[in-house]
Amino acid sequence: MSVNKHLRSFVKRSGRLTNSQKLFFYNKENDLNYFNEKKIINYEELFNNKNKCILDIGFGDGKLLINIAKRFPDINFIGVEVYESGIGSILKDISDLNLKNIKIANIDAIELLKNNIKDKSLQGISLFFPDPWPKKKHFKRRIINNYFIHLVSTKIQINGFIKIATDWSDYANEIINLFDNHKNFVRVNEILYYKERELTKFEKRGIILGHKITELSFKTI
Ligand SMILES: C[S@@+](CC[C@H](N)C(=O)[O-])C[C@H]1O[C@@H](n2cnc3c(N)ncnc32)[C@H](O)[C@@H]1O
Repeated sequence: MSVNKHLRSFVKRSGRLTNSQKLFFYNKENDLNYFNEKKIINYEELFNNKNKCILDIGFGDGKLLINIAKRFPDINFIGVEVYESGIGSILKDISDLNLKNIKIANIDAIELLKNNIKDKSLQGISLFFPDPWPKKKHFKRRIINNYFIHLVSTKIQINGFIKIATDWSDYANEIINLFDNHKNFVRVNEILYYKERELTKFEKRGIILGHKITELSFKTI
């Protein structure tokens, strides 16, 4: 795929929202934990501090992101997701726990990266269990491809990181190949924030299905 094109990595899931998810999802424009950026994000204005910022792509139900943000209150987190129930759930959790270091965006992560994230501004990016698109004819929908790697390489600071976990072995091999062939990334063992992290919903599902979990961490050089 050319480095200028990308196919959507998701199809809109129309799952039924619970009443509390609805309450938070439909009021999100008035929620301080939600933002709808039209321009380049100024993290200092968004979070009211100068802390480093990590972007989590496709947080699903958001439980892991909430847990990590609770453990690292001096780091800012932006979560981006297109799944409405997930947006409703995480906004409720952020409000219940009164967390100040997470902001949520409800758009395609590729659009957010392209249009709203300043170059070399993120400390890191995480992707836990990106949609695997297991059928060969759908591989082109996988979010991690040459275009994605080029894009994230422009957005992460030097000495920053990208952390990925997947339960699909062929996707893991493809990701390793893509990053190994990129001059700005080197593979490392683990990133501090994710040591002893909790399991995500899709990870638990993968384990039940007998899938092997692959964790990949790369530093930017
Ligand atoms: C397999 S789920 C994993 C969810 C969660 N990280 C977990 O491990 O339980 C992948 C998630 O990525 C989201 N997603 C896929 N492509 C996306 C994109 N381009 N921008 C934002 N979210 C996306 C989907 O809506 C879905 O919730």
